[in-house]
Amino acid sequence: MKIEINERLAKSEGVILPFWSMPNAGAKGKSVLPPWAQDSFAPHEFTGAPGQTASLRLPAFGKKKPGNENMLRTAPDSRIVLFLGLGEKNKCNPHALIASYANALNALKSARCKSVALLLPAGPVGMPPDGFVYALASQLTMADYAFDKYKSREKDSPPKPAIETLLLVPAPPAKSSILPALRAALARGVVLGEAANFTRSIQNEPSNVATPAYVADQARKMAKASSLKCTVLSKPQMEKEKMNALLSVASGSDQEPRLVLLEYRGNPSKKGWDAALVGKGVTFDSGGISIKPAQKMDAMKFDKSGACAAIGALSACSKLGLKLNVVGVAALVENMPSGKAYKPGDIVTACNGQTIEVLNTDAEGRVVLSDALAYTSKKYDPAVMIDFATLTGACVVALGDLASGILSEDDSLVLALTSSGERVGERLWRLPLWPEYDEKVKSEIASLKNTGESGQAGTTAGASFLKSFVGERAWAHIDIAGTADSAKSRAGLCPGGTGVGVRLSLDYLLNFKAPKEKKK
Ligand code: BES
Ligand code: ZN
Ligand code: ZN
Repeated sequence: MKIEINERLAKSEGVILPFWSMPNAGAKGKSVLPPWAQDSFAPHEFTGAPGQTASLRLPAFGKKKPGNENMLRTAPDSRIVLFLGLGEKNKCNPHALIASYANALNALKSARCKSVALLLPAGPVGMPPDGFVYALASQLTMADYAFDKYKSREKDSPPKPAIETLLLVPAPPAKSSILPALRAALARGVVLGEAANFTRSIQNEPSNVATPAYVADQARKMAKASSLKCTVLSKPQMEKEKMNALLSVASGSDQEPRLVLLEYRGNPSKKGWDAALVGKGVTFDSGGISIKPAQKMDAMKFDKSGACAAIGALSACSKLGLKLNVVGVAALVENMPSGKAYKPGDIVTACNGQTIEVLNTDAEGRVVLSDALAYTSKKYDPAVMIDFATLTGACVVALGDLASGILSEDDSLVLALTSSGERVGERLWRLPLWPEYDEKVKSEIASLKNTGESGQAGTTAGASFLKSFVGERAWAHIDIAGTADSAKSRAGLCPGGTGVGVRLSLDYLLNFKAPKEKKK
């Protein structure tokens, strides 16, 4: 799908026309449509309520064929007008508008429109116009993605043709002088959306396909196409590095683990690394010996989403022309029960010498990340480190699927990341990481234990544990357990992986400010 900014609503097979609703319209609201359109919908009123749609098929371009309904429906150039409700102007949330546009685009795709033009909302939407186009373009790019490669095609349900062109048209009286800014924002938004789609395409693969080796191969292929350096550590190499925590989680599986290191040097004159993005990549989390209940265990193929996010974010650094040195790390293992599996009570040693008492083999994410974070800190010494992990069910309980948890001791890093989240529509909500919580993950017989106090602040316990492996630097842990995948389609996206973390980290890098000084 090619997206362009156009000054006028050019001839397209489908057109999306947005309407604000009247203040306090309520259920008995008045139609906000122009009179010529109102007649077509009587007795249904189109009030412009958020997400409300009504579509109207107009006669084929240039030809008038009154009374021939069938002909109109099948005419290749028939025009569908989709009226889209945006809700009340003074109550609007830009990401709710974007979700409505994405759903409207899907409706026109279902109606087999190959070209679509959409009118942008008139007036302020709670974001500058270029910011709105940026976020909208990324969402519409993501709405265009479907995971259907395994679906057999019956004759009677041929695939929907793709939308080939999409025009975004500023609402009049837009000045032509804003067009260059809108075009630049559009280009960036599309890059973000495509990177997120790449992440989703790996996320959605089932664990029998997406093994650690498979995910590493995807990263390697991507790196080749995106001029990144890619190093993949195999099991013997990790043994050499003494990553015995990560290896212990992998030990129950027939699938060998991998550690992927992707290096983007956008500022080659500088020696060090500005940022590291580290992701939990458990390609399937059965819980191991502390096995999970059967219900919804299939969703644990998404336990690799943090790693997929790091890989997807790195895929776009060069396209965005980032003048930064960024490393992406994917820690890939499968967590399975077997005679070789690690067991509750085991004590394992991470590559930085810290010992971990394993009290629950299902709290494997932090064990895997301990080595990945310690290794990244030692090898790259990045100014900022951000990790993405589907770490705790407790985060799903706290925030549901509408926000990821962010835990950090660095207020300015939290502010920068939450602001990025607001811009790209990936909400973050801060949970505490006060030093007092560190006691909860101290072990009687080892440096740390991998569970906190039962039933208490599980997400913070996970982050407190990770804190021991990040060294002295600005660091944020982002728990995406609730946001990595969705069983329902939402905001125009198909069910499955959401690509969470990709747009967020790219927006953060686009607005990167080096931390003032290293934390003492
Ligand atoms: N991968 C899970 C967390 C998870 C839960 C992700 C639900 C997505 C949806 C993680 O490895 C896990 O099982 N964590 C345990 C930790 C506990 C045993 C301390 C949890 O949250 O129950
Ligand atoms: Zn687990
Ligand atoms: Zn897990």
